[in-house]
Amino acid sequence: MAKNDTIISMKKICKSFPLEIGGVQQVLFDITFDVHAGEFVSIMGPSGSGKSTCMNIVGALDTPTSGVYELYGQNISNMTDDQLAQIRNEHIGFVFQNFNLLSKRNVLDNVMLPLMYRGMSPSERVRRAREMLTRVGLEKFESYLPNQLSGGMKQRVAIARALAGDPKLILADEPTGALDSKMGNEILKFFEKLNREMGITIVMITHEFDIARYSRRVIHIYDGRINYDGPIPKTESALTTKTTKVTK
Ligand SMILES: Nc1ncnc2c1ncn2[C@@H]1O[C@H](COP(=O)(O)OP(=O)(O)OP(=O)(O)O)[C@@H](O)[C@H]1O
Ligand SMILES: [Mg+2]
Repeated sequence: MAKNDTIISMKKICKSFPLEIGGVQQVLFDITFDVHAGEFVSIMGPSGSGKSTCMNIVGALDTPTSGVYELYGQNISNMTDDQLAQIRNEHIGFVFQNFNLLSKRNVLDNVMLPLMYRGMSPSERVRRAREMLTRVGLEKFESYLPNQLSGGMKQRVAIARALAGDPKLILADEPTGALDSKMGNEILKFFEKLNREMGITIVMITHEFDIARYSRRVIHIYDGRINYDGPIPKTESALTTKTTKVTK
């Protein structure tokens, strides 16, 4: 039985994709980990190691081939697409590398978007979206279009959108990947604040150890298997030393 504060419980998760030439490619092998309320976790690993595939399952955007995944104690494996969409909308805020903002909609509309399905009145949605924009310091930019903003500002809009639905969990796939290091650090400090001050649980994918250092736990994936799961080590080599020992 999962503990009450377990948000994510992955047990022996495997994921395979069908290959065009026939057969399947297995991408994840027996991935097992829990994330508890209030954690700030990084998922690290080289390109192609399966980080995004893993995150798509964590975020109920995809289902595992085998294994059991429980999100807030609910087994998502056999849910319909509608049920998955509802779980995502209620519980998870997503932040992506390329912001995923609607380019023809202004900042306020973008932040209001996830509130469409919440049964809120239009004025309530506007109020809530403005509150979130104030939180990320962009209250003066609500009528701007995304292409009128810097990368860091776009990502702050995406964070405001992720926070609008009041999720307890934020999933971020390379959230600073498209930003220079100054803007990236700003975003990471903001995540730190959300985690420490608001108790929001964060799971973040990154390639870079210096970025993972903002979190408090790192899960390192290599060739679809976890080869390190623990506190942030002093040096990155503690993650990769093990990598070389993994047998295929
Ligand atoms: N929908 C899919 N169909 C077929 N293969 C896929 C699919 N999604 C991912 N893969 C394969 O799974 C492997 C892992 O991909 P994934 O995107 O999870 O890696 P990643 O660790 O996120 O890499 P990166 O750091 O480059 O983003 C790759 O070999 C990829 O080609
Ligand atoms: Mg990826």
